[in-house]
Amino acid sequence: MVIDYLLRATHGVQGLQPYIPGKPVEELQRELGLEHIVKLASNENPLGPSPLGKAAASGELEGLNWYPDDVGFRLKQKLAAHHGVTAEQITLGAGSSDVIDMVARSFLGPGRNAVYSEHSFAMYAIYTQAAGAEAKIAEPLPLIDEMPYGHDLDAMAALIDDDTRVVFIANPNNPTGTWLTEAALYAFVESVPSDVVIVLDEAYTEYVTEPGFPDGVKWLGDFPNLIVTRTFSKIYGLAALRVGYGLASPELTAVINRVRHPFNVNAVALAAAEAALDDHDFIARSVANNQAGMQQYLDAFADMGLDSIPSVANFVCVEVARSGTALFQQMLQQGVIVRPVANYNLPEHLRITIGTEAENAACIAALKACLT
Ligand SMILES: Cc1ncc(COP(=O)(O)O)c(C=O)c1O
Repeated sequence: MVIDYLLRATHGVQGLQPYIPGKPVEELQRELGLEHIVKLASNENPLGPSPLGKAAASGELEGLNWYPDDVGFRLKQKLAAHHGVTAEQITLGAGSSDVIDMVARSFLGPGRNAVYSEHSFAMYAIYTQAAGAEAKIAEPLPLIDEMPYGHDLDAMAALIDDDTRVVFIANPNNPTGTWLTEAALYAFVESVPSDVVIVLDEAYTEYVTEPGFPDGVKWLGDFPNLIVTRTFSKIYGLAALRVGYGLASPELTAVINRVRHPFNVNAVALAAAEAALDDHDFIARSVANNQAGMQQYLDAFADMGLDSIPSVANFVCVEVARSGTALFQQMLQQGVIVRPVANYNLPEHLRITIGTEAENAACIAALKACLT
């Protein structure tokens, strides 16, 4: 008898569209036999891992036979000092997506809903759907707005109802790179009923140099329903290790930790993250590289007559006025991997991670070659 296991899955899983990751370098190398590939598809740090993090990771290898510290005591102490919070306010995750998933699994389910914006990070939809909850998706800001495609906080607020349990906000947002100002975001957080959990996803915050850009961590004392998520995957350059965290009130933290998998953050990741937090020089170099690279793209887009979505993150979404997916395929032939974003309802955009100057130049050259 052939069993259709999908029909046996929960309603939420049956309707799930799995996450589409950036194309791995090795896969393209296998397909095209190319030696040199430029990958600018997953918003990773082009300068490599934090050197302090990498050294600490190597130092852990002798102890791989031991389970890691389940509570992540040392990393929590470090994070507590870094952010001015207590260890009881910290949830460690295998990437910040793990923490976001813990919130979804704790608060969402059939008969409940989550509110988020159109064009926001794909995992909000996936975790909401997996939990069997309803997704209430707010229209983005219109193209005439100074923040086109950005989160429309009024539209999001209007969708919150008695069944809303979670609101997801990314600041800055992926894939758009758009952002929310301190005053607007604070007013929104204040307006959300205190029994609705707000996930403020700050995966890219360390890259932002925009004056007046909010730091949600400062608001934790005001809002027991707020959880701010951060990651070591982006500016710290530790994406392969999968480590991130959430900061919230002790009450909210205690609830979501009920669904945390035991030993969810491995020992190598714990040690590397702890060391990377002190890597101020690397962070400063990464920010400087990002700013220069962003300007390199903006100049090239102006030169090519292309528009892009305003971004303060380590990536930029460019409008290519044709199928982004087809252009992505063409650029692969040139050995450049970028990210098509049709699955984010942006079929005529490509998202490009800011790389090193040479990587950006290669990407710009490939884009030019494919567009002419
Ligand atoms: C907005 C946003 N949040 C969260 C994440 C999750 O990252 P990680 O699970 O590696 O911490 C990403 C990854 O791309 C992201 O873009």
